[in-house]
Amino acid sequence: AIKMLTLGIESSCDDTAAAVLQDDCRLLSSVLTSQDSIHTRFGGVVPELASRNHLESIVPVVNEALARAEVNLKDIDLLAVTQGPGLIGSLLVGFSYAKALSYVSKIPCVGVDHMAGHILSVFLEEDKPEFPFIALIVSGGTSSIYRADSYTSFTLLGRTRDDAAGEAFDKVAKLLGFPYPGGPIISREAQSGTPDAIKFPRSWLEKDSLDFSFSGLKTAVLNHCNNEGQKKNPLQIADICASFQEAVVDILVEKTMLAATQQNIHTVVLGGGVSSNPRLRRHMEKRCQDEGNRLYVPRPAYCTDNGAMIAIAGVHQHRQNSHFSYDSDVYCRSLL
Ligand code: KG4
Repeated sequence: AIKMLTLGIESSCDDTAAAVLQDDCRLLSSVLTSQDSIHTRFGGVVPELASRNHLESIVPVVNEALARAEVNLKDIDLLAVTQGPGLIGSLLVGFSYAKALSYVSKIPCVGVDHMAGHILSVFLEEDKPEFPFIALIVSGGTSSIYRADSYTSFTLLGRTRDDAAGEAFDKVAKLLGFPYPGGPIISREAQSGTPDAIKFPRSWLEKDSLDFSFSGLKTAVLNHCNNEGQKKNPLQIADICASFQEAVVDILVEKTMLAATQQNIHTVVLGGGVSSNPRLRRHMEKRCQDEGNRLYVPRPAYCTDNGAMIAIAGVHQHRQNSHFSYDSDVYCRSLL
């Protein structure tokens, strides 16, 4: 059989990423440059700096992905690029680059929704789920629950009404004085804390709702810190981290179980940067066992933004004969 090679390009936020995928799941290379060191002194992603850095990185990152896969551009059959959601300036760099590359090299191009990439990143693993499944996608930009019926058909069941889960982690980390991105630091600190030391509120919203709200929890942590005074010993910090993390994990896990019950689906998939959180993975695994659900979680490197997941989503979209126009533009809110 003839091998199909897809070059996936991702630049929606602060990482420039590219990957070469053979057929629909064999990863030949995946390259990523993180801008964390640039944004950390500002306490979050600065959009203007992010786009400027994408401009500098995009060509070397794509060339590195091709080199590591030991292929040339002329071997590539399809370009898959993130079209949205994300920061407009960041998206524009990858999207314009891919359009231009497609135009001059006559390689077909598909614009991919970043959320489709996160939902499908689990297919980069050996152990693949079957459709339909429930997908919890939790990152710094979005927190949503989807029903996936095929590689190209997704139904949004619930989403955050304010902060994304990763955003809540990062903002709580910031108020505790940790550098950006604070999510991984909170999960590390939490290891030496007690999850039920502080009773932070869980916002369940209306009965049967699959939406999330994390802004009240964030404020509760802020109030707790203010009430207790500024001076904290390391153990108190660890307890705050563990108790905050437990509240987020509880909500994410129980809403995902509720979605599975409501849809009568017994396969659950995780994706997005926050799904590399060890407590979330363990707790979700346990609750899935209780409920008779099968859980599939990609390795942490596939959970965070990467080019491989964009390539996978692109291949399947291309097979559906999706139409691509050079007039099309990037978008900031997910269409899924
Ligand atoms: O999917 P992702 O790479 O891209 C964005 O949407 O930005 O997710 C990054 C997010 C950040 O908010 C980061 O703090 C969070 O995922 N994150 C974590 C952990 N690792 C990354 N949050 C909690 N626990 C972790 N271990």
